[in-house]
This record gives sequence, structure tokens and C-alpha cells, in this order.
Amino acid sequence: MPAADSSPQAPQHVAIIMDGNGRWATARGRPRLFGHQAGARRVSEIVEACPDLGVRYLTIFAFSTENWKRTQAEVSGLMTLFRRYIIKEAQRLLNKRVRVRFIGDRDRLDPKLVKLMDELETLTAGNDHVNLTIALNYGGRDEVTRATRRLAHEVAAGRIDPDDVGAETLSRFLDTHTLPDPDLVIRTSGEARISNFLLWQSAYAEYEFVDTLWPDFTAEKFAKVLSGYGKRERRYGAVLG
Ligand code: IPE
Ligand code: IPE
Ligand code: MG
Repeated sequence: MPAADSSPQAPQHVAIIMDGNGRWATARGRPRLFGHQAGARRVSEIVEACPDLGVRYLTIFAFSTENWKRTQAEVSGLMTLFRRYIIKEAQRLLNKRVRVRFIGDRDRLDPKLVKLMDELETLTAGNDHVNLTIALNYGGRDEVTRATRRLAHEVAAGRIDPDDVGAETLSRFLDTHTLPDPDLVIRTSGEARISNFLLWQSAYAEYEFVDTLWPDFTAEKFAKVLSGYGKRERRYGAVLG
């Protein structure tokens, strides 16, 4: 039964840009928020599929630092959805032994939402079956900028020698400092771009762009993408014999 052993080619860490909720709703003549609600339901299915597929880390892009540019109605609808999702799913995530972490800048988020995020992290901190990371008010450039600022303070305080600063040093200041780099980044909805997601961490990730809109991305489709990953050869710049 431990599928992690039976699928040695499984990516350890999968990151997903969950895109296409709005188009999914529009195609049904419904408001965009209807698509976000359908998308949120899909998240649980994908998280729960991870153990059997051998995926230990799943990171999902829920709200970008650029998504504030949307209408106030959509932004506040999304924020309400995030709060409700945490309240509704907390117990289930705990029971499924999912450890939840959040990445992104919490300063601009509603304190009520931040409190729920902190509580969910604490509640699930002892879990290790699946590591779910939710990127909320996250942007890759913003993350590197915040990390650099903190690092600069450490240097200015004399705690880090500027000559000792390497890639590892900067990694330690990123929101993702407790996570391995993603092996595979999936984007749904047919758009082939990164939209500021995990810029530093994805240096050697494999990418998969799938046409399916996020609310239609089933566990079955997820499994199919992962089996394609198993056939790839990762070279990291070297020439393999
Ligand atoms: C992704 O779906 C979810 C978020 C960005 C919050 P979109 O809302 O971007 O859906 P499309 O791309 O407009 O269809
Ligand atoms: C990326 O999707 C952000 C999330 C999935 C949360 P967007 O829909 O915001 O990205 P663009 O605007 O198509 O680049
Ligand atoms: Mg989109």
C-alpha cells in the first residue's frame, strides 16, 4: 500500500498554479466567485491524492501579490473564501495528517485571516503525511525582496559577513526555508507563464502546462501529469552518460 515506495519516480515536491477558475465560471454564465468556490473544492481532492502518488510536498498558488488589481468584489470574495476554507477544512486536514504552511506577505492580509492561518499552522505542525503549502499574497520577487531586506539587516548588525553570503544564505531567508525546491510545477488553464511563482526555487523544476481549467483538474488528471514526469530526464546542467 505505501505507494511512495512503489513510485520511485514520483516528484517529492509538486507546486501548482491553480489557474482558470474565472473562465470556468464564465463558461457557465456564473460569477467568477462561483469558479473560485469550485476551485477550492478541488484543492482537497488533490491534497488527498498526494500520499498514494508519492508526493510529500504540495505547494499551491492561491493569491498573488498582483491579484489585488482585481475588482474589490472579487478580492473580498476570495478573502472570505480563504477564511471559510480554513474553518471548514481544519479538522479534516488534521485527521488526514496534513501539515499546512503559508507563504507570502501576511502584512497586507486581514488580521482575522492571518489569525486563522497561524492557528492552522500550529494545529497541524505535528503532521508529516503531506506537507501542504498555500501561497497567499505571494509573489516571487516580493519574497526575494523581503528576504534580501532581512539579510541586509543581519549584515548591517554585524551578524553575517557580506563575503559569506551565498545562495544558501539567501535561501534561509525565503518564506520557503523549510521546504525542498519543487521538482515539478504544474499550471492549469493553458497559460504558459510563471506569473511570479517560486522564481528562485524553480530554477531546476520541470514544468507542465495543462489545458484543463483548475475546477476540472481531477485527481485522475493529476496522476496522469505525474506519470509523465516519471519519464523525464533531469540533467541539472550536466551531460548524462
Ligand atoms: C485562478 O483563477 C485563481 C486565482 C488567481 C485566485 P483565475 O481567477 O485567474 O481564473 P481565470 O484565469 O481568470 O480564468
Ligand atoms: C496566477 O494566476 C496566480 C494564481 C493562480 C493565484 P493569474 O491568473 O493571476 O495570472 P495571470 O494574470 O494570468 O498571469
Ligand atoms: Mg488566471
